[in-house]
Amino acid sequence: MTSASLPRVLLLFGGRSSEHSVSCVTAAGVLSAIDTATYDVVAVGITKDGTWTPVAATPEQWSFESGALPEVTANGLTAHLSLDAAANERGAELTVSASTPSAERDRGGAESLGRIDVVFPLLHGPFGEDGTLQGMLELADMPYVGAGVAASAIGMDKHHMKVAFAAAGFDVGPYAVITDKQWRRDPQVALASAGHLVYPLFVKPARAGSSMGITRVDEPAGLRAAVEEARQHDPKVVIEQGIEGREIECGVLEGRGAAAPRTTLPGEIAVADGSHTFYDFEAKYVDGAAAQLSCPASLPDAELDRVRELAAAAFDAIGAEGLSRVDFFYTPDGRWVINEINTLPGFTPHSMYPQMWEKTGLSYPDLIDELIQLALERRTGLR
Ligand SMILES: Nc1ncnc2c1ncn2[C@@H]1O[C@H](COP(=O)(O)OP(=O)(O)O)[C@@H](O)[C@H]1O
Ligand SMILES: [Mg+2]
Repeated sequence: MTSASLPRVLLLFGGRSSEHSVSCVTAAGVLSAIDTATYDVVAVGITKDGTWTPVAATPEQWSFESGALPEVTANGLTAHLSLDAAANERGAELTVSASTPSAERDRGGAESLGRIDVVFPLLHGPFGEDGTLQGMLELADMPYVGAGVAASAIGMDKHHMKVAFAAAGFDVGPYAVITDKQWRRDPQVALASAGHLVYPLFVKPARAGSSMGITRVDEPAGLRAAVEEARQHDPKVVIEQGIEGREIECGVLEGRGAAAPRTTLPGEIAVADGSHTFYDFEAKYVDGAAAQLSCPASLPDAELDRVRELAAAAFDAIGAEGLSRVDFFYTPDGRWVINEINTLPGFTPHSMYPQMWEKTGLSYPDLIDELIQLALERRTGLR
């Protein structure tokens, strides 16, 4: 088979959110594992300020091993995906041009990088995982891996996901929301909206990830500063009552055709080190010894089955597609409190989601293949 007849996959990574570098590390993992005998891979990195930059489809410069946190930087070229749905018909042309008009004149005009059949967004956080990119791809009639517009937006927002989960009958912990306008109107009144919550509290940016901007607050004196900190990441803030429980996660993969979602063996995260009071950014990515991941979690079979059912139900509750990781607290009295759904969970080969699939019998390369096949199989537009 010649590469001209292989499906062309556009890997998109980097991006404008605070999880830019995490996304680059994910790209390194996927670039190392994707089967290039099956797919023709094209890579575009998005800089922190939003320029789509064509880059080599090789993993080397994007891994953590390169020393500093990897970052996509401008290289004078900009990639563009055609948004003309009528012309596109499932797929779109990718062109590359110089970033400035004068350089573009010198180059003699835009150059085509050919047609893309499917986009694999490896982007975490706002402007990638939150429905904005998905909306653009829908407009372009472009197939893509993962959740659609609404599910991405709901799954990104820790407020709206709680509303959806509570409506679907899930056990959601007590919480309060402070919008930007409420805070700017009167911080004192806004803080009072969390007055019914029992300490410790967890103060979070509504739309972030990788534990960025999250503070555990043990007494009222620390609340205001924690809100200010969360607001560095997102003007909308969620304040949650701390839940005592084991952290159990379960991976979900959409079923083929009309089949029900598939789930992984559930895994457990245990934060071991005394210097981390919760599963914070350092424990997730920097301090390798801080968190212990075990899969399957040590639980009775009936509870393993129960959390798998709940994870599939959470996937359906927000109308997710492709993949999600659903995270729960398992309380000492045996309740499953849902913490969050991630529609683009950590996806390096060492991340929980691929690791749990590995333990369930689906390797990382096969998982990547399955996700692309799901995207190619599903129709574009309303579905
Ligand atoms: N309500 C809570 N009770 C207890 N621990 C929490 C709570 N919320 C968050 N945490 C801790 O903080 C971590 C990160 O919070 P999470 O909501 O999962 O944010 P992110 O989207 O950044 O992963 C969790 O894995 C858990 O260790
Ligand atoms: Mg989390």
